[in-house]
Amino acid sequence: MTTTTADVPADQRAFGIDVGGTGIKGGIVDLSTGALIGERLKIATPQPATPAAVAETAAELTRRFEWDGPVGLTLPSVVKDGVALTAANIDKAWIGTDARALFSEALGGRAVRVLNDADAAGLAEYHYGAGKDVSGLVILLTFGTGIGSAIIHDGVLLPNTEFGHMELDGDDAEHSAAASVRDERHLSWDEWTPYVSRFLRKMEDLFWPDLFIAGGGVSRKGHKWIPLLDNRTNVVAATLKNTAGIVGAAMAVAADLPN
Ligand code: BGC
Repeated sequence: MTTTTADVPADQRAFGIDVGGTGIKGGIVDLSTGALIGERLKIATPQPATPAAVAETAAELTRRFEWDGPVGLTLPSVVKDGVALTAANIDKAWIGTDARALFSEALGGRAVRVLNDADAAGLAEYHYGAGKDVSGLVILLTFGTGIGSAIIHDGVLLPNTEFGHMELDGDDAEHSAAASVRDERHLSWDEWTPYVSRFLRKMEDLFWPDLFIAGGGVSRKGHKWIPLLDNRTNVVAATLKNTAGIVGAAMAVAADLPN
């Protein structure tokens, strides 16, 4: 049975938007379960993905859902005090953009929160997904165009870690271990996973996590490659799949996180 807004009290609903390189996805989240209320909607990311064009797409998403409350949004960027400070895989025009002010204006002045995409996914997986009931230190890594990261200790997120840019063999780790590298170089799972193992071993030597959660589109095929990894720490596939960013963004605005 599909949940509708009528089934969930207003204070348990929030709206999340996940801004990615190819799609901008949104939906209403039931905060009591971490599930979406109704459908997830995806609009192709405008090209070029300038701040103004993305903000207009975000406004279009809220109109389609007839949502006029607060909105949480993700960006594939370091976000501090609402300002995007990096743009590794998106339009460089985002660097220095006050994303919180931009989105708030595009959404008629309402309250918004903007956070890093992997931080949002980490929050969502920790509370509702693969990290539920796990204590200690959890590191979520999203394998996609780049590698996003979130580190959470006993429920507390340390925002804006950029582990995908950790140096590995003289280059950013995401340049060898991102899922996009496997596609571009036509690597088999056996050929790609050694790069991921190397990255995870470096991470665990430095942080000693209790669990790694592997997210991003490639986590849907986790059974094909996670068993091939040879690092020490347990690795599990994310369970919220393509809704984690939306759910985490909604959580951020509902919890009034600092961003
Ligand atoms: C960016 C991160 C982002 C990740 C996933 C990286 O290239 O630097 O901020 O979280 O890609 O989108």
